[in-house]
Amino acid sequence: MAASNISILGTGAYVPERVLTNEDLEKIVNTSATWIMERTGIRERRIAAPDEDIVTMGVAAARQALTAAGLEPGQLGYIILATNSPNYLYPAAAIRVQDALGLNGVLGAFDLQAGCCGFNYALYVAERLVGPEGKYALVIGSDANSRFTDWTDRSSCILFGDGAGAVVVGPAPKGRILTSFIASSLNMNLFCETEFNREVSPFLPPQSHTERHFLRMNGPEVFKFAVGAVKESIRRIMEATQLSREDLDFLILHQANWRILDAGARFAKVPMEKVFVNVDKYGNTSAASVPIALHEAVEEGRIKEGDKVLLVSFGAGATWGAALLEWGTS
Ligand code: ACO
Repeated sequence: MAASNISILGTGAYVPERVLTNEDLEKIVNTSATWIMERTGIRERRIAAPDEDIVTMGVAAARQALTAAGLEPGQLGYIILATNSPNYLYPAAAIRVQDALGLNGVLGAFDLQAGCCGFNYALYVAERLVGPEGKYALVIGSDANSRFTDWTDRSSCILFGDGAGAVVVGPAPKGRILTSFIASSLNMNLFCETEFNREVSPFLPPQSHTERHFLRMNGPEVFKFAVGAVKESIRRIMEATQLSREDLDFLILHQANWRILDAGARFAKVPMEKVFVNVDKYGNTSAASVPIALHEAVEEGRIKEGDKVLLVSFGAGATWGAALLEWGTS
């Protein structure tokens, strides 16, 4: 049978071994384990070891996704890596993944930055790249948020964790991406400034503060945006497909806060049993959140062939987007 539909052929995920519990955080900042659990649903998160980064985590997730897809690295046409926590501004982390997979010179690899919506953005791009060419793309979401977290700021450091997820996207006889969209609109309620050489540049005023590497967030404003973005995403996907919310079999929403998942599920009129939750274990892993959740849902047998699975994410930018999948990987 001709393989004409573009689908996800395999998934993978990696999280670091080190667990940071809410009780551990009580020793770092002025917070309480109960407050964190009640306001966010997060119990613990993972922290990358000193020798780990977005590339090592991304490679681990990518190898799993390739195995699940039944593909050799050499069959890939593109690597797209979504991240918000690169340890180099350049070269792209995706090219370091390419190197680790032994694919130098064989394909084009690039990074994509779209906040916690990065994976949805990368999937959107990959679908459109591989469609006309019949190639396969490796799409990775990988974030080492702990490296950009201000561990003295209790309003943000409790939320984030590290990890990576990956999928292989390409032509497949079963399954397909039914529809997808991405959107953005400037919103400075969540940002992280870049370092540059104020100290040595004769063209810039001297640096006046040292907070520029840390993520900064107005939590309540981001919360309101996030709930609105989830609702709009569901509405747009339903309009584009002419499906009704009852047709949704499974929801994978960006794992930022349990209360946002709950609000999304209520709006979609989908019971929480159909909404994947791992925010309790990993916190917010940014661009890795949706692919890790998708991988775990697949591994746990929560998604069946033919299911309509909605992937929704939102993040700094602001960015938001969604993809509706008809599941089927072989
Ligand atoms: N421990 C104890 N108390 C705290 C903590 C903490 N860690 N953090 C804040 N508080 C206190 C505040 O000081 C405040 O006290 P006050 O009433 O005496 O002033 C009180 O708790 C309420 O603070 P709020 O910020 O209003 O608390 P809220 O219920 O909004 O929860 C939270 C804060 C969890 C950050 C929530 O706003 C949230 O989840 N926002 C969305 C964040 C998010 O999803 N960001 C990622 C977006 S995606 C991306 O691209 C990265």
